[in-house]
Amino acid sequence: MTVWTPLRLRELTLPNRVWLSPMCQYSAGADGVPTDWHLAHYGARAAGGVGMVMVECTAVARDMRTTARDLGIWDEQQVAGHRRLVEVISTVGSVPALQLGVAGRKSSHGVPWDNAGTRSAVPPEQGGWQPLAPSAVPFAGLAVPRAMSTTDGTRLLEDLARAARGADRAGYRLLELHGANGYLFHEFLSPLANHRTDDWGGDLQDRLRFPLEMVRALRSGWPEAKPLVVRLPAEDLLDGGLTTEDMTVVATQLAAHGVDMIDLSSGALVPEAVRLTEPLHNARYGPLFRTVGIRTAASGMVFEAAHLDEAVPALVDAVFVGRALLRDPYWALRARSSDATDSWPRQYHRAF
Ligand SMILES: Cc1cc2nc3c(=O)[nH]c(=O)nc-3n(C[C@H](O)[C@H](O)[C@H](O)COP(=O)(O)O)c2cc1C
Repeated sequence: MTVWTPLRLRELTLPNRVWLSPMCQYSAGADGVPTDWHLAHYGARAAGGVGMVMVECTAVARDMRTTARDLGIWDEQQVAGHRRLVEVISTVGSVPALQLGVAGRKSSHGVPWDNAGTRSAVPPEQGGWQPLAPSAVPFAGLAVPRAMSTTDGTRLLEDLARAARGADRAGYRLLELHGANGYLFHEFLSPLANHRTDDWGGDLQDRLRFPLEMVRALRSGWPEAKPLVVRLPAEDLLDGGLTTEDMTVVATQLAAHGVDMIDLSSGALVPEAVRLTEPLHNARYGPLFRTVGIRTAASGMVFEAAHLDEAVPALVDAVFVGRALLRDPYWALRARSSDATDSWPRQYHRAF
């Protein structure tokens, strides 16, 4: 078995295990609908030999976006736009998947190329909004969020179920919830961001309560036959934060609630968290989660074909590749083979 061997998750067979990591393009209009940029960007990568294209973090509600340029999936116009994206990705030969985002306190910031970028809050008078989070504790540089009420929670669960139904109708074949990098799901889990004293805060089992509700809501709107993945930290990489022991407990609970795979992406809850920079840094946590009986994937510093072979099957079941595929949409084809007749699209064979 290699990274090029198909992988089956529920009724879905992924043709290989090298997947486009979700990467925000900050290129939607104010309506949150995919644009021609998204069609060209994802189409090129789908033609580039990845077994799955994970479309970027897409907001389940207006106030859960990271920026005003995020994709959304809360209305029919957006679902129709996603359907076009699904068609392009499928037609040129990859599996379309969607990452759903609930940004929590990391909401309402700038886009990377404007002013102070993603570290600067956009206030309501400039088109921003007040973020919602487990506790009124801000991420450095961003706005102070409002602590969620139970009414906010109920609404968010409805938003998640609606987004899952929309993703299904658009034709996506796999759904991922962004539960890492300091977004709302991660904020609820971590004692560094969740200071609640009600049912949604306390020890790990209590802090897990609302995240598991989020998974239940997604599963209620997402067909049984289709796989559900959660992007999850393997630890917080900071004293007092989530440990790998905590996260194996979380992964066990996720598996019991219908999650088929975890996609490891650690850190970023707070700016002081250690930033790991060696190749395959998240994949190296993979073996810790083997005992849980859940499939594992990871992203992080994969820039060479040799990294893929090192990762699968020894560390994880699949690899998400980010920046290497931003630089070169054909990175996976090059990593696989230089023989045009082997894996490159036949339209390109005369190039060789
Ligand atoms: C421009 C850019 C946008 C990103 N947007 C997202 C996102 O929407 N969702 C997410 O989970 N991670 C996002 N990430 C993180 C990547 O998915 C990936 O995990 C990270 O870049 C590490 O993998 P790499 O070293 O292969 O790039 C983004 C990264 C970049 C560079």
